[in-house]
Amino acid sequence: MTYALRLSQEERARYRVMAEMAHAGEVAEWATAGIAAGARVADIGCGPGAMLRVLAETVGPDGRADGVDSHPGAVAAAQEEITGLPQASVRVGQATDSGLEPDAYDAVMCRHVLAHNGGKEAAIVAHLATLTRPGGAVFLVDIDGAAIRLHPEDPDLTDLNQRYHELHRARGNDLTVGVKLGWLLEQAGLTVEAFRGGGPMLRVPPFLRPPSWAARDALVAAGLADADDLARWEAAFQRADQLVERPWMSVASFVAVGRVPVSSPAG
Ligand SMILES: C[S@@+](CC[C@H](N)C(=O)[O-])C[C@H]1O[C@@H](n2cnc3c(N)ncnc32)[C@H](O)[C@@H]1O
Repeated sequence: MTYALRLSQEERARYRVMAEMAHAGEVAEWATAGIAAGARVADIGCGPGAMLRVLAETVGPDGRADGVDSHPGAVAAAQEEITGLPQASVRVGQATDSGLEPDAYDAVMCRHVLAHNGGKEAAIVAHLATLTRPGGAVFLVDIDGAAIRLHPEDPDLTDLNQRYHELHRARGNDLTVGVKLGWLLEQAGLTVEAFRGGGPMLRVPPFLRPPSWAARDALVAAGLADADDLARWEAAFQRADQLVERPWMSVASFVAVGRVPVSSPAG
């Protein structure tokens, strides 16, 4: 896939902030999915491993947390992230064909991956279901990119965000896939046990950079930005870093938990 991820320290810091916030905000859904001490869980499209680490710490030494990502750089970063946690592993693989053991996991998580895989969403969810044991749970998280807003708005950062959306549209991706998670689980034959949308209003900390900025090389490669745009956006971020009164951001994120049937209709 062509997802452009610059794994700078800033980017990895953003992933850790997101993982910590998500962990704190998804307590009920983690319980529904059975993500607890001793559980065997997978994280498909684990990125640099911030959530994989939280999962490994949650399941503890008697559980397992196995991560998969198609990007070797992300896998290398995740490997570093899980240092000292023997119950965790990470490997290179595809979300439609991870190479993990089928029917083996109590819960299979997939966060912020579907929005990058236009046209393959159903195939990915079907694969996640094959990894999950009967009675286990598929745990999906994704955004409604159309509803992510900043206040006060900076016209240059709004411009960057719009071009990022244009890049995804050109690739056939659906940045509003969050609202479709329940439907995707049902299409894969699962029962939706939790489906929640919305998200917190955040005060954007200084030096935080969004995914659109991480994708700047891809924007240039696609002809959607040039060196002047990059300089203009960088200046806008530097302006924003200096603001004493931190801007507010709405993050529209969706969480859905689907239960895999205990026996198939044929069984
Ligand atoms: C936005 S990041 C999210 C990372 C992590 N799940 C999180 O929420 O912090 C998306 C990750 O999914 C991976 N990815 C995207 N499509 C994939 C696919 N088809 N198979 C495996 N990994 C994929 C990318 O390489 C990237 O690391």
